[in-house]
Amino acid sequence: MAENNKVDETSGETMRKKSESDNKPAQSHDEDNESVEEQPLDIGEHYLVRRSDDSWHPAEIIQTRYGDNEYEYYVHYEGYNRRLDEWVPRGRIMSSRFNLTESGQKMPSDKVWKERPLVSDLLSDSSDRKITRNQKRRHDEINHIQKTYAEMDPTTAALEKEHEQITKVKYIDKIQIGRFEIDTWYFSPYPEEYGRQSKLWICEYCLKYMRLEKSYRYHMSECTWRQPVGKEIYRKGTLSVYEVDGKDHKIYCQNLCLLAKLFLDHKTLYFDVEPFLFYILCEVDKQGAHIVGYFSKEKESPDGNNVACILTLPPYQRQGYGKLLIAFSYELSRLEGTVGSPEQPLSDLGKLSYRSYWSWVLLEILRDFRGTLSIKDLSQMTSITQTDIISTLQSMNMVKYWKGQHVICVTPKLVEEHISTSQYKRPRLCVDSTALRWAPRRHTNNKLGKK
Ligand code: ACO
Ligand code: ZN
Repeated sequence: MAENNKVDETSGETMRKKSESDNKPAQSHDEDNESVEEQPLDIGEHYLVRRSDDSWHPAEIIQTRYGDNEYEYYVHYEGYNRRLDEWVPRGRIMSSRFNLTESGQKMPSDKVWKERPLVSDLLSDSSDRKITRNQKRRHDEINHIQKTYAEMDPTTAALEKEHEQITKVKYIDKIQIGRFEIDTWYFSPYPEEYGRQSKLWICEYCLKYMRLEKSYRYHMSECTWRQPVGKEIYRKGTLSVYEVDGKDHKIYCQNLCLLAKLFLDHKTLYFDVEPFLFYILCEVDKQGAHIVGYFSKEKESPDGNNVACILTLPPYQRQGYGKLLIAFSYELSRLEGTVGSPEQPLSDLGKLSYRSYWSWVLLEILRDFRGTLSIKDLSQMTSITQTDIISTLQSMNMVKYWKGQHVICVTPKLVEEHISTSQYKRPRLCVDSTALRWAPRRHTNNKLGKK
């Protein structure tokens, strides 16, 4: 069998570049092989798939590929965030088809089913149900996914939809950046010859991406960068923030967006970086300034957004850097004399982080304040928009709708209750405004109170 096995002999690299249909192994003419030859499972079918924690979960087959002498399947676990989508070998897929009945999902056996709370469960509260916000979100979502959708003729629109289908699959499984090897979460539109690579090598300083380890090693010996381009505007302890103008450093910013897209599902800024400023957070040591995360911000935001995209690289997540970046973005708004809000839609993790930040800021004020406060006052004190303040107060049951207006409705006891619960988490890292060297650009027309 081995002698005439026509399984693609080219390197994995070449093979992955081929289209899906080309990817199938050449059919063997050897009749004996027929029973051995595995037929691929169909795209769109649902099966139970074993996750890395050994639990079984219903999943949809999104794509197939032929690698390492067997078919592999790109699966989406139903009800889970797309970042958990992954390539799995046939061995992790339950052999019999999993039927979806009209009444719901049918499990072959309850015993193999391990429940795990979803992040979305943590997020379901009444503030999400506001029609106006949801409408805005949907509107924005459409705008972000396809900015020029409206102008498209039906054929182009169909092609675009097909493209979306393609972006369902991420081919780059891993990146090496600095000392970290990181599993990626989502598709990112790296140029074709890079995009079908299972691992990319990225210079942690200039963010240049490479396909081969040896090019990377060579680059690292040549690259003279040791920090982001642009201006260092904040330094406190080992933390620095650099401001980079997309117009002045286009390639760097595009590389940053491509990198970020690997961890962001719904954002589509990759190449049009000129209208944005980028704020790069770094941990600095003797070697250089290591990128931890960043946020981008429109130079002029008609919607009053003070953040477009925000990211903490996975090895640095859950250590307070996200909320530090959020606090930083509000500090900039405060200096501009404006209020701001993150661009919609927020990801599940984005929502958690913003909610946590907003709750903390508001509870801090409400705890110490005696007298009356309006939502507008809170907005002016924090640079958080009134809409975001209302939704946060709603989630803490601290607002009433009275005579056509939202009115803050708190007692010291209620504030104390929230402070002692999980809603209130003192951030691990705070912005020290005295360490910030920054002044707003002249033309900002989104003055305080607009939102
Ligand atoms: N599961 C549950 N809670 C989480 C998780 C998680 N995986 N990650 C963060 N949180 C919670 C934390 O518990 C914390 O809340 P708490 O302090 O009240 O417990 C809060 O979220 C923020 O934690 P930080 O450590 O400050 O934030 P982090 O550095 O992890 O960054 C961020 C948060 C930026 C959202 C990060 O998760 C990320 O980069 N995700 C991928 C990209 C993304 O989704 N960005 C936001 C998109 S929306 C937009 O761009 C406007
Ligand atoms: Zn470099």
